[in-house]
Amino acid sequence: MCGITACIGTADSVDPLMSGLKRLEYRGYDSAGLAVKGQDGLSLTKRVGEVSELASAVEQDSLDGTFGIGHTRWATHGGVTNENAHPHTDESGNIAVVHNGIIGNFQSLRTELEANGHVFSSETDTEVVPHLIEESLRDGATPEEAFRSAVGRLSGTYALAAIIGDEDAIFATRSGSPLVLGIGDGEYFLASDVPAFIPYTDRVVYLHDGDFVVTTRDGYTISDAAGRPVDRSVETVDWDPETATKGGYEHFMYKEIHEQPGALRRTIHGRLNPLSGGVELEEFPSGTFADVRQIHLVAMGTSHHAGMYAASLLSALDIPAFPFMAGEYAVTVPPVTPGTLVIAVSQSGETADTLDAVRRARAAGAKTLALTNVVGSSITRECDDELLIRAGPEIGVAATKTFSSQVTALTLLAERIVEDVTGTASTDAAEIIDALSRLPGDVQEILDTSTSRDVAAEYQDSDAYFFIGRGVAHPVALEGALKFKEISYEHAEGFAASELKHGPLALVTPFTPVFAIFTGKEDEATLSNVKEVQARGAPVIAVTSDRDGEIAEFADHVLSIPETHPDVAGILANVQLQLVAYHAAKLLDRPIDKPRNLAKCVTVE
Ligand code: G6P
Repeated sequence: MCGITACIGTADSVDPLMSGLKRLEYRGYDSAGLAVKGQDGLSLTKRVGEVSELASAVEQDSLDGTFGIGHTRWATHGGVTNENAHPHTDESGNIAVVHNGIIGNFQSLRTELEANGHVFSSETDTEVVPHLIEESLRDGATPEEAFRSAVGRLSGTYALAAIIGDEDAIFATRSGSPLVLGIGDGEYFLASDVPAFIPYTDRVVYLHDGDFVVTTRDGYTISDAAGRPVDRSVETVDWDPETATKGGYEHFMYKEIHEQPGALRRTIHGRLNPLSGGVELEEFPSGTFADVRQIHLVAMGTSHHAGMYAASLLSALDIPAFPFMAGEYAVTVPPVTPGTLVIAVSQSGETADTLDAVRRARAAGAKTLALTNVVGSSITRECDDELLIRAGPEIGVAATKTFSSQVTALTLLAERIVEDVTGTASTDAAEIIDALSRLPGDVQEILDTSTSRDVAAEYQDSDAYFFIGRGVAHPVALEGALKFKEISYEHAEGFAASELKHGPLALVTPFTPVFAIFTGKEDEATLSNVKEVQARGAPVIAVTSDRDGEIAEFADHVLSIPETHPDVAGILANVQLQLVAYHAAKLLDRPIDKPRNLAKCVTVE
């Protein structure tokens, strides 16, 4: 959702900026643009549509400059038009600004600026920024002072990068939206996310809210709002550029589905102790969670389904655990009593609703723990503790490998919590540890043998697609349906199998295939639901390890998963459903990595 890229110090700025925009495409966008500064001053090109369309326009305009800023826009204020695309400028055309986030008080600022004679050329909230900078410059401020003063007037969330007047510098800041600084050899980059500049450098500074950065060809400074220098460490990321590209696969999503064995190996690495049959989390030594009395899991989208999965595991182990859609956390006002642990699950660590839920939880006195994929993301700073899922960069908008890694990490965490709270490992701990150690290999077996493409082809012309499951298979059913609808644009819904008779069954016809997920727990009850839908003529696709038994006998198709512990089986079943969704979308020729209207990272509420 909106991507920022900027560079200074490179021989030419257009190539790194364009490659940065291409690499930020996964965030979701509907227009793109860039502004570069060269001998002829500031030049700017922006276009509705794909980055490739912007690239042609940039070539046509012969854009040339030694430093610049770029942006992919996901519309929030104002329609999808060339005028509303970023960068935005003032009337003089000498200031250019890119922005990610929402400026809450833009309307009053705009009214004030218009009264002072400023003429706006877009409907965006962002455009107030270059005009505010221009006002300060007019009052005699230096470019840096003008930038700081403009930012000081803003409320809301923002990451901003600006080129101002004749200064050979990029000015940037963040508050509530991500921004990272890349440090090359005499070259400096700014971006919403590391993959934007990974071909140029792997040295990164994760900026904090309130940091101001000034980058020139000679270096960079980071200071706080009052101008006091702040010290931020330079970290080296271990992503090779190939990890952030398709590496021979047609789509990022397919590549990421296939990366799951490796991602899972990293998630569990050093965290399982097969000898003791226990969990070893370096971050959380034994006893850390002894005081926990209840758990709230807050998250959105796929991460919410991982949270539901974990809540189901914890509840079954007598730890009261409740999943909340983070965006609803404020409204549902759950009681935060002493001993409440709030686990915020977020791949990106930047989802606005999830960050808001964390702030509310902290204000209510809860202890907070971030479960995320992104080192240094906002959520890691807002929470008391963090547990990284280590899945590696995920670019496809539809989350795949991160769900598997989230559920795996949450399963480990659940075991640690149960052990701390009750004083003993859960009854099945050793079996679960064993199942998790086999998980990467089991996922590989599915990837090697899945018949999901045939299933997708056979039911290609259906009216709708339903997914049912019980216990941990319920969130897997929801996730299966989410993946399917996100990328195929077909109507897909997930239900608790028990819910079927209470409404959804009215929708079931011979043209609505039903995917039924079996984990080995409560299979009999789910099988009776299967019989109910079959009696209405619906084809049934069973996702199960029961290849020859009763389930296979009743199903029209079986998507097979290796035998494992029921608590882990949901992760395997989900891989089959990821593949079904992928093949269905591919058969329909959908833009799989960038589904319409969706963004990888939703940084507005
Ligand atoms: C968006 C993405 C989903 C993701 C959700 C939560 O909706 O399209 O794939 O699950 O945000 O994102 P997070 O980064 O917090 O896991």
